[in-house]
Amino acid sequence: MIKSSLENAINNQINTEFYSSYLYLSMSAYFEAKSFSGFAKWMVIQAQEEYTHAMKFYTYLIQKGGLVKLSQIDEPKQEWKSLIDVFEDTYEHEQKVTASINAIVDLALQEKDHATVSFLNWFVTEQVEEEATVQKIVDDLKLIGDNNNGLFMMDRELGQRATTASSVTV
Ligand code: FEO
Repeated sequence: MIKSSLENAINNQINTEFYSSYLYLSMSAYFEAKSFSGFAKWMVIQAQEEYTHAMKFYTYLIQKGGLVKLSQIDEPKQEWKSLIDVFEDTYEHEQKVTASINAIVDLALQEKDHATVSFLNWFVTEQVEEEATVQKIVDDLKLIGDNNNGLFMMDRELGQRATTASSVTV
């Protein structure tokens, strides 16, 4: 049986991951409206990955005998100033997610719940990758600036993002 403090923290994280999925889908819709179909596809896959993150927490909580409590998902932002603004927001959001996962690790250590610490390790590693990937996109967009050819090429490149195994399995 999982401690109620961790049950609450994981339920909050389920909401955070579903919100992340919703936010990235909103970003995808923004890109579609601007006719950047590659950026839009990249964000749809990102949204799918966030859904699987939520479901990993969901499944784990049930396996540990906890009670899943789904809560209201906040409305995501719908407008951004530019492409780079979207990815800067993404980076900032991922940093918040990292802090939130680290806080659950701290709690699991405090509660001496080794199984939960072990479960969370996957997310700790995943966050390093997520932050690095988004930071690279921000850096590339800064280099490209207003160069239309560069933006066109980057849209093509991001549109090649394949659905990864982790985005389709829980
Ligand atoms: Fe589920 Fe992007 O963190």
